[in-house]
Amino acid sequence: MKNFYSNINKSKKILDDGKVVAIPTETVYGLAGNAYSDVAVKRIFKLKNRPYKNPLIVHYFSIKNLHKDCKTNKIFDILYNKFCPGPITFVLNKKSNSRISKYVTSNKKTVAVRFPKNKIARTLLSRLSFPLAAPSANISSKLSPTCSKDVKEEFGNKIKFILDGGNCKIGLESTIIDLTGKPSILRPGSITLEKIRKVLKKKVSIRKTSKKIKAPGQLKFHYYPGIPVKMNKKYPEKNQALIGFGKEFKTGKNCFNLSKNGNLKEAANNLYKTMRLIKKRNFKSIAVTKIPSAGIGYAINDRLKKASNRWAQQQSKFLI
Ligand code: TXA
Ligand code: MG
Repeated sequence: MKNFYSNINKSKKILDDGKVVAIPTETVYGLAGNAYSDVAVKRIFKLKNRPYKNPLIVHYFSIKNLHKDCKTNKIFDILYNKFCPGPITFVLNKKSNSRISKYVTSNKKTVAVRFPKNKIARTLLSRLSFPLAAPSANISSKLSPTCSKDVKEEFGNKIKFILDGGNCKIGLESTIIDLTGKPSILRPGSITLEKIRKVLKKKVSIRKTSKKIKAPGQLKFHYYPGIPVKMNKKYPEKNQALIGFGKEFKTGKNCFNLSKNGNLKEAANNLYKTMRLIKKRNFKSIAVTKIPSAGIGYAINDRLKKASNRWAQQQSKFLI
């Protein structure tokens, strides 16, 4: 407990100073800085090697603080009451007098916001006089970190402090829902379309994704483990690891089971961890068996599709 508070205090000091700290959340680790400070936010972009056109999520402790920066609406209220704090991000219209750095929003009039549930993140947020801009704590386009060791692997000594909160409970990034027009899910997550539809009843229909690229990070290649990924395979090729799922899937030297019980939540939690492990074991590529798309399985498949797109992208370069 003593450590808990001294680590929170240490993080607060660094953040008050305009520097960045890696923080645990229930989804993945974030690279956090003062969302009101241009200097702090620019540091985040630089460390991640993230293009400035890809905006960040702002993390709040309370709705009172959110109201200073964003315009909310009825649908937001319903979803907030049901799911927050929790793994859901809302895209809202920014207030004209908001203090959020223009770098956070890539100069847009909208802002992505969320209320993390993780106790350490909440305690830290409750002690700060500003919200935290925090993208996932990985180099741009790579896999999100789900424990402090992963963060260390991404950044080495480039970040001052990693607030250690053990393994992330969910292990996949938050669901992003755009509420600036007709509600639309920009990034699937553990709070599924079905859960959201159930809460909103028939009041609104939800498009799964918009055709326009609303969240730049959500399309094309992303979540790249550093080696090619291929989906819907049955057997591993030479130097390739196979990721599978469920009772029938036999674990072996080159075969990794995301959940022996066929539990999709467990599979989601093991996905990035397993891909990192495979990369470390020097396999040259990853094949993945068919993973069911029910519940959080939809988000798993979304991440796999993007990871494998990178492969397609590289291949197409060779073909040109
Ligand atoms: O679970 C999470 O959401 C984690 C933890 C750390 O909170 N954060 C995270 O951040 O995944 P990041 O930066 O890796 O992904 C944020 C996504 C990006 O795809 C970005 O394009 C999108 O949110 N985004 C941010 N602001 C936006 C906006 N105003 N409109 C649309 N999309 C936005
Ligand atoms: Mg990310």
